[in-house]
Amino acid sequence: LDNRLAKTPPMGWMPFERFRCLTDCVKFPRDCISELLFMRMADLLVTEGYAAIGYEYLIIDDCWMEKQRDENTGQLIADRERFPRGMKFLSDYIHSKGLKFGIYHDIGAKTCMHGGPGAKGYYAIDADTFASWKVDYVKLDGCYIGGIDLDIAYPAFGKALNRTGRPMPNYELIKDHCNLWRFSEDVKDSYDSVTSIMYNYYKHQNALQKSAGPGHWNDPDMLVLGNYHLSYEASRLQLAIWAVVAAPLIMTNDLQSVRLEIKELLQNRDIIEVDQDPLGIPGHCAFRSRSRQISVWLRPVSPQNNVGLFSYAVAVVFLGGYEPCPLCPQAHVIDLEHLGLNNNMGYAVYDLFDSSRHLGLFKPKDKFTTHINPGGVAFYKFRAEDIL
Ligand code: GLA
Repeated sequence: LDNRLAKTPPMGWMPFERFRCLTDCVKFPRDCISELLFMRMADLLVTEGYAAIGYEYLIIDDCWMEKQRDENTGQLIADRERFPRGMKFLSDYIHSKGLKFGIYHDIGAKTCMHGGPGAKGYYAIDADTFASWKVDYVKLDGCYIGGIDLDIAYPAFGKALNRTGRPMPNYELIKDHCNLWRFSEDVKDSYDSVTSIMYNYYKHQNALQKSAGPGHWNDPDMLVLGNYHLSYEASRLQLAIWAVVAAPLIMTNDLQSVRLEIKELLQNRDIIEVDQDPLGIPGHCAFRSRSRQISVWLRPVSPQNNVGLFSYAVAVVFLGGYEPCPLCPQAHVIDLEHLGLNNNMGYAVYDLFDSSRHLGLFKPKDKFTTHINPGGVAFYKFRAEDIL
């Protein structure tokens, strides 16, 4: 969608995978979907240094609304108990922190989990309501769509939003009408979920690679780093692959209890730079071993050298599982020429998880050997040197 927004994939925070549809604030006062949760996370985005590094959208997911629209105006209303000061108050609070404010809605009759009122029949009213709340981003789900033609409905809601004059990216199937769209299942806090979404990208990568670029991105769903079930290796894996495919980096976690080593991953400047690369070319899996356990992922990034050859982010994934030692780190040899890394002056190679580690200069005929931990990833920048 060419609305001058999302020139690079959006970054921010969203509650859904971590906090789901927790609406019982008596039992779960800290974690329930309420203004207090979002104010707490807005504060933490700033105080913990996430905002400064680019995580700017705070996006409310499902379960924020009253089950009935306003009887007289037909407008959506935020749940009166959990959002006692209303959505405009929360929006102002979020904006006062220098952040942007996103909200969830559904194109169909009801929202997915909460069953709140969907947009069906109310596009203009809801777009106006969001504009009056100074919403900056709409996540538009597609549940309960019975009979709705999404090819028509998403553009129509997009038009309703644009008509308000407030530029807001929304979520979609068609790149002319949306800034990003999901292409896979809901992410869960598990290694299997992360690798399954990675595999879904791989299966459809030719089409997916073509459809993404500045203003329109494939969304593999939220970053689950910082919760309970991803190991350190798996956390690195999710971050690296999400950066390779130019994914939105939308965290879902309790920012207060993210362990330091995971926070350092989430705030790794070099990896964020790959994700946010201004060329906006999404990467792909360029090699997969016969056993399927090793794959090499490649994303062209800037800087290009003085004859226009790209630099590359290169991720090598090892899912584990080789006899006689399935849980041992695995060596893998990268043949630069085979991957299409043809710059005669070579590439200066850096470890993206440790930018202080310069690993040397490698020419197209050279082989680069890496070791990958099981269930993990090695991630490098191959910076194209200049041809003199
Ligand atoms: C769908 C979406 C999720 C989340 C839920 C909310 O499952 O894919 O990301 O928004 O709805 O109910």
